[in-house]
Amino acid sequence: MSVVGIDVGFQNCYIAVARSGGIETLKMFLLFFYQVITNFKNTVHGFKKFHGRAFDDPFVQSERSKLPYSLDKLANGSTGIKVRYLDEEKVFTVEQISGMLLTKLKETSESALKKPVVDCVVSVPSFFTDAERRSVLDATQIAGLNCLRLINDTTAVALAYGIYKQDLPVPEEKPRNVVFVDMGHSSFQVSITAFNKGKLKVLATAFDLYLGGRNFDEALVDYFCEEFKTKYKLNVRDNPRALLRLHQECEKLKKLMSANSSDLPLNIECFMNDIDVSSRMNRTHFEVMCAQYLMRVETPLKTAFEQSKLSRDDIYAVEIVGGATRIPSIKERITKYFCKDVSTTLNADEAVARGCALQCAILSPAFKVREFSITDVVPFPITLRWKSPTEDGLGECEVFGKNHAAPFSKVITFHKKEPFDLEAFYSNPQEPSRGLPVQKENNILC
Ligand SMILES: *[C@@H]1O[C@H](CO)[C@@H](O)[C@H](O)[C@H]1NC(C)=O
Ligand SMILES: *[C@@H]1O[C@H](CO)[C@@H](O)[C@H](O)[C@H]1NC(C)=O
Ligand SMILES: *[C@@H]1O[C@H](CO)[C@@H](O)[C@H](O)[C@H]1NC(C)=O
Ligand SMILES: *[C@@H]1O[C@H](CO)[C@@H](O)[C@H](O)[C@H]1NC(C)=O
Repeated sequence: MSVVGIDVGFQNCYIAVARSGGIETLKMFLLFFYQVITNFKNTVHGFKKFHGRAFDDPFVQSERSKLPYSLDKLANGSTGIKVRYLDEEKVFTVEQISGMLLTKLKETSESALKKPVVDCVVSVPSFFTDAERRSVLDATQIAGLNCLRLINDTTAVALAYGIYKQDLPVPEEKPRNVVFVDMGHSSFQVSITAFNKGKLKVLATAFDLYLGGRNFDEALVDYFCEEFKTKYKLNVRDNPRALLRLHQECEKLKKLMSANSSDLPLNIECFMNDIDVSSRMNRTHFEVMCAQYLMRVETPLKTAFEQSKLSRDDIYAVEIVGGATRIPSIKERITKYFCKDVSTTLNADEAVARGCALQCAILSPAFKVREFSITDVVPFPITLRWKSPTEDGLGECEVFGKNHAAPFSKVITFHKKEPFDLEAFYSNPQEPSRGLPVQKENNILC
């Protein structure tokens, strides 16, 4: 029986497998959702953030124009995805689409491993709310997977980092504090974690839900769309296929620019209306174009750092993962904020999936793995409110404040003679409802 860890990204998915010989041999399978370029209407990608969100959610609405497929409102208000399926237009729930994807991942890994894959641990962004997490769990059930636990992305990374370390301080000693910075394709997450032998404790987390590699790709796409309009009289945005090709070329160019600061060419043959297009771009110009995004890198670093109540000297290392952290100016900003060179000990693309597989191995009775305890934090404060019909007993209290340890149980006793209503909700409804990040002033103390 194999146990797997699954990281479903915005564009790519990674599966890590813990084998019975030990957990070191982890293998990755990668699926590209962009591959079916000639059949793009059926290529559904980037639906991860629709889990547990209403169709009328401002984020869902803002994404609609960017998708190569359409969305629909379901009877209960949640988001539906319209896909051509067996030559028919059909509307699926996000859980169904996600379930199909997980089924595909399950089958792919089963055929490679020649063993059934059932038990798994799936990662979710640490900012996912309860509704979003439930929606992901539903999808795993549709796929016939037995999801032992959902784990936060940055916590999975921390586990992948810590479990192999032989030299962690013993529990009585001062912990080793590590900052994990994960910028993927569509979001940015930061966590600060304290390690001791056999355990990790998340001290603080922060995120920018809307900052990721795709902002940088889109900035390039916008630029070339404008340029091709004047230079070749082409309306790229009217041609979804050309637009998708330009997206791919821009992603490649972005990667090249991370390694090469000279002026680089962009050439696409037979791009649109039989026209070959060409242009140039370089890192300096790119950074100027992306200044508005680069400015946002510091805010989550600062938020997490302040909440951790550590000083810069208390930080042992700053580990970066996620494809977008390869962009040199992002790395520079992280280095500058913590006054410390960033480390790339972990595999930038695979670390999350590896952490999931490790967690799965720890939880699975089929595996013998060294114990490693994980304490996470509550990202959004939670309040309880109670009301009795007869007494004018109405009250509320915040049971879990921001960054309270999780999982954690509290016993609360009510002395009441009548039945009463009890509800639990996020204390600050604005927070999980994903308002756009607030720009804060930059003041670095180095
Ligand atoms: C909404 O309805 C769909 C089925 O149409 C169901 O799968 C989904 O779980 C429902 N969502 C909520 C939040 O009740
Ligand atoms: C950078 O790109 C230029 C232009 O394509 C090329 O001539 C040069 O060899 C590249 N440099 C490196 C270090 O790859
Ligand atoms: C980078 O691009 C800008 C704008 O096109 C240009 O002015 C500048 O000379 C280029 N730099 C290099 C090193 O080629
Ligand atoms: C991580 O996930 C758990 C659920 O597994 C949740 O209770 C906790 O609040 C999360 N932590 C963060 C930082 O999001």
